[in-house]
Amino acid sequence: MNLVLVGLPGSGKSSVGRRLAQRLDLPFFDSDVVIEQRLGCAIREYFEREGESRFRDIEQQVVAELASIPRGVVATGGGAVLRDANRRVLQVGAHVIYLRSSPEDLYRRLRHDVKRPLLQVDDPLARLRDLHAQRDPLYRQTAHTIVDTGRPSLVTLVNTIVTQL
Ligand code: S3P
Repeated sequence: MNLVLVGLPGSGKSSVGRRLAQRLDLPFFDSDVVIEQRLGCAIREYFEREGESRFRDIEQQVVAELASIPRGVVATGGGAVLRDANRRVLQVGAHVIYLRSSPEDLYRRLRHDVKRPLLQVDDPLARLRDLHAQRDPLYRQTAHTIVDTGRPSLVTLVNTIVTQL
């Protein structure tokens, strides 16, 4: 069974995932990278041109594909838990780890971000608080393990995850 990381943008899914994969000697997949390869353009550009719902359709296909990989570590996009179908496919097909972070910590990491379409607003902290309120229950519902990211180093986080597997 593969390991899938979920959590808000900036929670460290890609960096933790890459390190965790190295540690466990498993292949690493980043769903946003797979989506961008498939789109042939940046997610932000596609989002702005085609709208969120078209993006979510493609994300759903990619999540289903990556959830069914027999052995690997997968970093998902922050919105991967929004659709029922994705939550189901992840719960059944993978071991899901929620990297939980406060909106304030995420804001510290992402305040200069220009890549994430949902954060290109006047008040990104308020947006992160809204996203947290909306999605935290969905991440909890989908995850088999919850890990608080707080401020420990990458190595400490990876160790914490490995001991909980
Ligand atoms: C999104 C998060 C992004 C990316 C897209 C939508 C979201 O991924 O999939 O911009 O809805 O939170 P990260 O969580 O890797 O930033």
